[in-house]
Amino acid sequence: MSASHFGTRFDYGIFATCMSAPKRYLITSALPYANGLKHVGHLAGAYIPADIYVRYLRAQQRDVVFVCGSDEHGTAIPIQAKKEGTTAQAIIDKYHQAMKEDFEKLSISFDIYHRTSAALHHQTATEFFDTLEKQGALQTKETEQFFDEAAQSFLADRYIKGTCPACGSDRAFGDQCETCGRSLSPEELLNPVSTLSGQPPVKKKTTHWYLPLDQHEAFLQDWILKQHQKDWRPTVVGQCKGWIEGGLQPRAVTRDLDWGVSLPPRIKGADGKVLYVWFDAPIGYISATKQWALDHGKDWTPYWQDKETKLVHFIGKDNIVFHCIIFPVMLKLHGYILPDNVPANEFLNLEGDKMSTSRNWKLDMRDYIQDFVEAPNGGPQCVDMLRYYLTQIAPETKDSEFTWKGFQEAVNSELVAVFGNFINRTWVLMHKLCQGKVPPFHATAKDEIDEELLKALTEAPQKIEALLEQYKFREALFEIIDLSRKGNQYMQKKEPWIVAKQIEQDPSAQTRIDNCLHLCLQLTANLAILINPFMPHAAKTLLHQMKVVEKMLQWENAGKVNLLKTGYSLRAPQLLFRKIEDQEILAQLEKLKQRTMSTPDTGSALPAEKSIAPAKATIQYDDFAKLELKTGVIRAAEKVEKADKLLCLQVDLGSETRTIVSGIALHYAPETLIGQSVTVVTNLAPRKMKGIESNGMILMAEDANGKLVFIQPAQPIDPGAIVS
Ligand code: 2FM
Ligand code: ZN
Repeated sequence: MSASHFGTRFDYGIFATCMSAPKRYLITSALPYANGLKHVGHLAGAYIPADIYVRYLRAQQRDVVFVCGSDEHGTAIPIQAKKEGTTAQAIIDKYHQAMKEDFEKLSISFDIYHRTSAALHHQTATEFFDTLEKQGALQTKETEQFFDEAAQSFLADRYIKGTCPACGSDRAFGDQCETCGRSLSPEELLNPVSTLSGQPPVKKKTTHWYLPLDQHEAFLQDWILKQHQKDWRPTVVGQCKGWIEGGLQPRAVTRDLDWGVSLPPRIKGADGKVLYVWFDAPIGYISATKQWALDHGKDWTPYWQDKETKLVHFIGKDNIVFHCIIFPVMLKLHGYILPDNVPANEFLNLEGDKMSTSRNWKLDMRDYIQDFVEAPNGGPQCVDMLRYYLTQIAPETKDSEFTWKGFQEAVNSELVAVFGNFINRTWVLMHKLCQGKVPPFHATAKDEIDEELLKALTEAPQKIEALLEQYKFREALFEIIDLSRKGNQYMQKKEPWIVAKQIEQDPSAQTRIDNCLHLCLQLTANLAILINPFMPHAAKTLLHQMKVVEKMLQWENAGKVNLLKTGYSLRAPQLLFRKIEDQEILAQLEKLKQRTMSTPDTGSALPAEKSIAPAKATIQYDDFAKLELKTGVIRAAEKVEKADKLLCLQVDLGSETRTIVSGIALHYAPETLIGQSVTVVTNLAPRKMKGIESNGMILMAEDANGKLVFIQPAQPIDPGAIVS
């Protein structure tokens, strides 16, 4: 199957509306392991983007099913059970329930949240394996693997502990060293012991089934690197290219383990073996669809068999190989459809460091729910606030970072000061100057400023739609906030509160007030539609305020300027978003610090040391002499639009003033930089960033907390002095 039949391939930035829409959509979010609570990095990676997309499709009234569930197999589960002194079953029951609840509380609107321990899943996965095995699509191979004689059990890589050959740590496992992070195979460990009995393991022969990925290389080359080279994210295609060009190997799809999905009983030698968790987990998408169909009296088969279904997997980047290479090969062999896209996200860091469960450097969804959503001043608005911030910083193209300051800034400066402010002003003025009713629009009095707003309002939906269709949620959200910003600017130009003072002398004053508030109200109705996929609670509050039914949120209404009828009376405004106070941020930072301090794995209040940057190769003086370094003084600074991290600086270099774009916006407010002494690389080739040509680079050093600090002369010196 080629996804291009579905008409969903776009050139960047171009949404061809003439292409016909798929008949139905099946949207999946990665099945999280039921071995612990999930953090906001998971939420930003695979759940919020999928939920936005699904809510948008629903508003388009498309046939869409959104499936997810708990991944309850694999060695991670029995290991967690051992840690918590309980059974694997108790672990999956506990975390399945907890994750389901957390997703619900953050308004992730799955049509079904299933689980891979369900009988229907076991049956589906076993049959899937059976089909492939009967076709001769799998190979068997005998190998030697580590075995614990005392426990009479083969050992998964994680069950073997030893000394890391790279860093010498004795906390290395058969798959990875916890200290230096290096990927290992059990054979590489020094002095290996079984974690089951503490005894050194022996090697024993065992037979397993393999998926011969090497036989499918040509298909993958064509399907990913040719057909999807343009419409999949470059990061996804890049990773796949690496795997494919590195040479694909047969992959074992069974394990010697007593926790997982059994092999078909007809198969000889199947005893004591289960399907590899990565074989059964993605089949979980199929069994979840089956269960959803059973629950709703529907047929599941077209969702997996009809080529007019658009299948999209939302995942984090660590799952790319499974969703883009292994599972598609399995689907192709089985005769099912292939994913049309796999919009994988990069990772979300937290306050300058990687999120880590073992080091407790993370923000669990549950913590946010308890501290914000369920707090006395919380409520659904806090759900939207998190959804907003996580979308605004979504790691769509590269790793990004959650900071509590950034969260506060996003809520206070954008949701409250721009979006909420526009709507609140509109409502307050409409009640004050138009008797709480939608005023008429006097077409004969329409002016250029009205035209400009009408243009922005009618053009925005198509732009936003194109971005959503390309999975560019971050940019789509920016466009919506920008539209509300335009609403504020419009209001500022029209100043209905000033015009109101002229009513007695100027007969046209009421007309001007009417037109302004009429358009602002129509814009509010539009904002409700556009924001709904991102912040469903704000959209609901707006519906209530406007006294309109949910049907208004259908996407086809976006861009219309007659959504609220003249003379219709509207309710009083409600607060859409509250401010986040400094104390709340400080409390969260303190909590993070305390949690890390009490985590035995680190024994330190700080995040695990950042790796020391490797020394660079020695250079000759001539190399250094190529650099031109000068002292400078910052004369002006402003934020760069659509770039969280960039500031546009005007730097005085004595004989000239240069425009330099610098990635310091998260560290310095622009107004604090005026007069700041700096050191500049002045002969760096110019580079365009967000459309601005940057002519030089400011030298900065990073302190122990990750803050960027200026390198400046110790004594005052005129700008333009040569540094050598
Ligand atoms: O990385 C993980 O959390 C896996 N449990 C994801 C599985 S996705 C799918 F294949 F089920
Ligand atoms: Zn190591």
